[in-house]
Amino acid sequence: MVDYRQEIAEIILPATAGFSADEIKGMVEAPADRNMGDYAFPCFKLAKTMRKAPNAIAKEIAEKIAPGDIIAKVENVNAYVNIFLNRGHFMKNVVGEVLSQRERYGRSDMGKGKRVIVEYSAPNIAKPFHIGHIRSTVIGHSIYKIYDFMGYETVRINHLGDYGTQFGKMICAYRRWGNREDVENEPIKTLLSYYIKFHEESEQDPTLEDEARAVFTRLEQGDPEEVELWQWFRDESLKEFGRVYKMLGIEFDSYAGESFYSDKMGRMLDILKDKGLLVASEGAQIVELSDYGMPPALITKQDGSTLYITRDIAAAVYRKEHYDFYKNLYIVASQQNLHFQQWIKIIELMGYGWAKDCVHIPFGLVSLEDGTMSTRQGRVVFLEEVLTKAVEKTKEIIVEKGVNTDNIDETAKQVGIGAVVFNELANSRIKDYVFSWGKVLNFDGETGPYVQYSHARLASVMRNAGGAEAEQSLAIDSAGAGHITGDSAFELAKLIYKFPAAVADAAEKYEPSIVTRHIVDTAQAVNRFYHDEHVLVDDEAERSAKLALVYSAKTVLKNGLGLLCMDAPEKM
Ligand code: ARG
Repeated sequence: MVDYRQEIAEIILPATAGFSADEIKGMVEAPADRNMGDYAFPCFKLAKTMRKAPNAIAKEIAEKIAPGDIIAKVENVNAYVNIFLNRGHFMKNVVGEVLSQRERYGRSDMGKGKRVIVEYSAPNIAKPFHIGHIRSTVIGHSIYKIYDFMGYETVRINHLGDYGTQFGKMICAYRRWGNREDVENEPIKTLLSYYIKFHEESEQDPTLEDEARAVFTRLEQGDPEEVELWQWFRDESLKEFGRVYKMLGIEFDSYAGESFYSDKMGRMLDILKDKGLLVASEGAQIVELSDYGMPPALITKQDGSTLYITRDIAAAVYRKEHYDFYKNLYIVASQQNLHFQQWIKIIELMGYGWAKDCVHIPFGLVSLEDGTMSTRQGRVVFLEEVLTKAVEKTKEIIVEKGVNTDNIDETAKQVGIGAVVFNELANSRIKDYVFSWGKVLNFDGETGPYVQYSHARLASVMRNAGGAEAEQSLAIDSAGAGHITGDSAFELAKLIYKFPAAVADAAEKYEPSIVTRHIVDTAQAVNRFYHDEHVLVDDEAERSAKLALVYSAKTVLKNGLGLLCMDAPEKM
């Protein structure tokens, strides 16, 4: 693909003095206001070196640039050189590029040979998989898709919360009040009720806590009876989580959760001791972090049992040794910022230079319209219920609207789940947001259904033009491209051109919302183009070029939706 910023820099370069092509390229801007050119070159930074006023430099540069293939027109306004592209040439280039790459358009091999671990979702066993978990699950999966699209080798890890003292409590509670059948019928709700009962009872009888601690210690030591119950809870929970992952179309390469590291703790403690990092404190062991402005990290408790943070340290070392990652990404709520700062610092203090490659990618809170959630008080909204409800509600809407589909249930699923996912990725991840059905299922705003609908509209044009056969023989030549130079076609082509850069930007910032924004803009441009231009015209060259543009826009929407973990229905 022609790099337009680069081309323009090279055209400007000879009219300047004392700057490299790269420096000039860095100064080329893309103004938001179309009247100021497709690209603009501000001359302020040139003044000192060229010993001239910025306005005079801009005037000189503008005079020296002759229109050609790439540039149609140059204007000088104050200290700016405003550059207008040759629209036909641009259209032919951009659409030609999409046609040469087809469904691979936007992919790159930037990440070739580099392995990136993406850790996300990580719910806790025997606890509800609730609406709060949607954030890590969906943002993480989208980040995985983006990295995969950029050619990185990816490993998706679900670091399940399947260990810790709470399992001691759960086992105790089950032994006292539990019933096998209930757990089998409704594992998570039943186990949760035991957990809640345990907390109520232990207020009256504090010895229950001691009993639970003893059970967990036995579990850590591998006592078969405890392990068997724990394994059963884990399996039952995973069945429930699996249903949600299936609805979302999510898979993992590894479910190595916290328990996976239980036999790797000893070695960590040895290294920490060797490095002189471990300090005894009231029977427990800690790592002092006051030099780094952080509270101490508790590594082992009085009874010798390990903690969440100890397992994260072991997990990072294991991942480095096992996967030799280029980057190790953690999509975890911002409430855990301190936890991540602490253990990544500890890894660094242990002498691991790769600590810098462990990246915590935080996100804000999701709350409900009627207040926050509380697991212990039973005020939770199960993710599975949210997804099921989204599909049901969507079905009602599409039946009412009389949507064009061959399979209502399938479309309702694609659109309903897509709407929830899209809503999740619409804003920058760090922002808190309130989950609202009115917003999620609004088909008219800047929503998932809107983008999917725009895609289906383009699919319908392609069908009318002859379907798969027409798609095979798509082509664009200069004559055809010369027919589509109107504003809406040009704006659409610009968004198609910028799609790969938007994906790269999203990868660099770990921010799927950049892709979301880009495809919403593209969908809007599609609808303006569709409003302004008639695609299936008689003139062969014009029709062919317009169809190629339609195909290109459709490809961008489809690939963009894919990066957001959404389906792109052909009919809607
Ligand atoms: N299970 C934890 C929770 O629900 C999240 C785990 C995050 N990942 C990690 N490596 N600490 O809060």
